[in-house]
Amino acid sequence: MEPWDTLIRTELEPMVPYAPGLRGSEVRERCGRELICKLSSNEHPAGPFPSAIRAVEAVLPQLNRYPDGSCRALRRALSERLDFPFDNVVVGSGSNEILRLIAQALLRPGDEAVFAWPSFIVYPMVTQMFGATAVRVPLKEGEIHDLEAILAAITDKTRIVFLCNPNNPTGTIYHRDEFERFLERVPAHVLVVADEAYFEFVTEPDYPDTLRYLDLERPLVALRTFSKIYSLAGLRVGYGVMPTPLARAIDKIREPFNVNTVAQVAAYYSLDDDAEVRRRRAENQEQKTYLYSCFDRLGLTYIPSQTNFVYLKTERAVEMFEALLGEGIIARDFGTAPALRLGVGTPEDTRATIEAFEVVAAKLGTL
Ligand SMILES: Cc1ncc(COP(=O)(O)O)c(C=O)c1O
Repeated sequence: MEPWDTLIRTELEPMVPYAPGLRGSEVRERCGRELICKLSSNEHPAGPFPSAIRAVEAVLPQLNRYPDGSCRALRRALSERLDFPFDNVVVGSGSNEILRLIAQALLRPGDEAVFAWPSFIVYPMVTQMFGATAVRVPLKEGEIHDLEAILAAITDKTRIVFLCNPNNPTGTIYHRDEFERFLERVPAHVLVVADEAYFEFVTEPDYPDTLRYLDLERPLVALRTFSKIYSLAGLRVGYGVMPTPLARAIDKIREPFNVNTVAQVAAYYSLDDDAEVRRRRAENQEQKTYLYSCFDRLGLTYIPSQTNFVYLKTERAVEMFEALLGEGIIARDFGTAPALRLGVGTPEDTRATIEAFEVVAAKLGTL
């Protein structure tokens, strides 16, 4: 091991690799069931939009060429749609990549990044990998962001505040008035990154759309993704709207062709089908009501969600996770937190999930 001790940066030592949810094929082998409901990664259960699939098929013969390194067509379409200048729209290999690039552009050893906890696991990862310190602020009652406590946690060393709205894994949101109070008081030396990966699923009217607060002067960024309601998780494409200096910095450090051709084309051809987005949002909402009534019946504690997943609070998370796996349902457990996160699937997935919960409740007793 000798040379590695000095070769590899010491900041990486306490980090652990990202652990993806189990795959359907692994679970099929384990439990021997045909129908497996993969509800562990907050993906959309349906395939990509038909227009995206057609566009992907058409572009395949051109894959001998590098992608458009500037994602021009997609950025132009996003710029028109969102009504922000082209230069302020940044596209990445998933919004995950943009989170990392922002951290890389801003964080130096000794800096701090503040975020709620539990929240998206990538915030501590991108903070630690650049030698900065992750400052976790517990969610308040109701598993909601405590924006006051986040303000109180900001110091002279803070460079970034990550806000996850809606929050993964709890599915909760902070409201417009809280966000406005937060923005009035957040110090000017801090970049606020509002991660809105589940934006399109939200139905609560009091949800603050960060783009409405973005004047491209103050250090504020909104991030969104094509991985969730648009069903393009397998292609890796997300975007952010941000002030020019940050967009320029990211342009310098990203890989030259960071978003592949297929991803660019699929995202571009997904953008016009607003009717399908509305249909998916309504269906997701309907499936959640069936799940909630099952959880109510079984006496399970859950947090009403603004997303395509539901957070269940249970001291028996590990046993429940294993028992659900045996029934072909892949949920997400968190090792340390007494909770499970369960994605919302198709109507067929919902029926199978409800049946599985009933079997598990009969097996385990009090959940
Ligand atoms: C809150 C949040 N932000 C960002 C992402 C990353 O999305 P992408 O697939 O665009 O990298 C996820 C994915 O699960 C997420 O939950």
